[in-house]
Amino acid sequence: MSGAVIAIDGPAGSGKSTVARAVANALGWTFLDTGAMYRAVTVEALARGIELSDEEAVARLADSLVITNSPRVCVDGRDVQDDLRTERVNLAVSTVAANPAVRRVMVERQREFAQNQAVGTVVEGRDITTVVFPHATLKVYLTASLEQRAMRRGEEGAHSLSRRDVADTTREASPLRRAPDAHVIDTTSRPVDEVVQEIIECLKNLNSI
Ligand code: DC
Repeated sequence: MSGAVIAIDGPAGSGKSTVARAVANALGWTFLDTGAMYRAVTVEALARGIELSDEEAVARLADSLVITNSPRVCVDGRDVQDDLRTERVNLAVSTVAANPAVRRVMVERQREFAQNQAVGTVVEGRDITTVVFPHATLKVYLTASLEQRAMRRGEEGAHSLSRRDVADTTREASPLRRAPDAHVIDTTSRPVDEVVQEIIECLKNLNSI
């Protein structure tokens, strides 16, 4: 299944990471959390005191960083996993993700990553079905009510979450959109296993055509 991609998009708290990781485990495929990449750049930009509004400086930084993710996210060999979801990063990451030059670097790396896997890759984010892998083997869009998503995100809270929703869906560069050919699943009151099974069924149905 080298080169095969299951692309999963959806807003924060829709269950993307949990579901994508479980689908990858079930299939024996690799999992890629692209939000963690934007978060890793944000952690490093904040640590170095780079002005986030300085798009060129942040893009130069993004281009220079070696980001790895197995099993924990590291930047230039330094473990940043525990820094990825702090309030400071939650507040700043939308600005970094709205930077078109940063996105260009990240998209290229995401494509390269999937290409280099001996097995298929389950990739989750905001622009995976629309920009990064428009020809993915299977496209999935996960949704859930704001209340449910805020509950899943715990400390972040509904206010910060909806602020990020607005930033992610209204930005100029690759906003979060539902691809017309994506399989939509509302995860509000669905157990993870059931959503995972639905995605695997979709994949099987594709393969049997
Ligand atoms: O999925 P997450 O909450 O970890 O994502 C962090 C931020 O990164 C989110 O606010 C939107 C952005 N993001 C993006 O713009 N494109 C992606 N492919 C993944 C995440």
